Amino acid sequence: MKKFFTEQLLAWNQEQNTRTMPWKGIKDPYKIWLSEIILQQTRVEQGLPYYEQFTTAYPTVQHLAAAPEEEVFRMWQGLGYYARCKNMLAAARQIVDTFQGQYPDTHEQIQTLKGIGPYTAAAIASFAFNSPHAVLDGNVFRVLARYFGIHTPVDSTAGKKEFAALAQSLLPANQSAVYNQSIMDFGAVVCKPQQPACLQCPLSAKCVAFKQQLVAQLPVKTKK
Ligand code: ADE
Repeated sequence: MKKFFTEQLLAWNQEQNTRTMPWKGIKDPYKIWLSEIILQQTRVEQGLPYYEQFTTAYPTVQHLAAAPEEEVFRMWQGLGYYARCKNMLAAARQIVDTFQGQYPDTHEQIQTLKGIGPYTAAAIASFAFNSPHAVLDGNVFRVLARYFGIHTPVDSTAGKKEFAALAQSLLPANQSAVYNQSIMDFGAVVCKPQQPACLQCPLSAKCVAFKQQLVAQLPVKTKK
């Protein structure tokens, strides 16, 4: 069931995934990081112009670190959650001051940066450095909860543990960048929150939620 999942997902990505985004497939940790911070609380379509603006104004982490705070905040205007922006600037300065301007390249070191938790660190480590860390975001929780028929709330302590372990066990270690991007894209375009495309889904033959008609009930969340 796990082998089928990973194989079908990668095949779907190769043959059918037409989703394009400017940060997809790039290896620059700085730009990947920008995209991940923007996408933490913002939808892709809304975040896109901000990503373009930021990478144009500040093409490297050195540019961002040297920018005046007011200017960076102005560029962030409209995205909300200003702590993200403040942390981002602090992290850029941390990279220049304590990492000699070199973006840290391990999952552990990346997490020492201001505003970066385990998920964002996993995204940067896998996309930029292909290191074997599974990403976990809303898309991933939804895809896994449905395919494996997991009813544990995704926002509970037990759920986070269970999903993290499962996600990690599915990751093909030498293809973590492409796999992580594939599962997020798959959640966004096939296994969508509303009206998922189950009839076209390459996983439906073994999808527990599909077979039990529980697709609309999963994933389970405790809080709202
Ligand atoms: N959400 C967070 N990171 C993403 C990515 N790399 N692609 C699509 N959606 C995302």
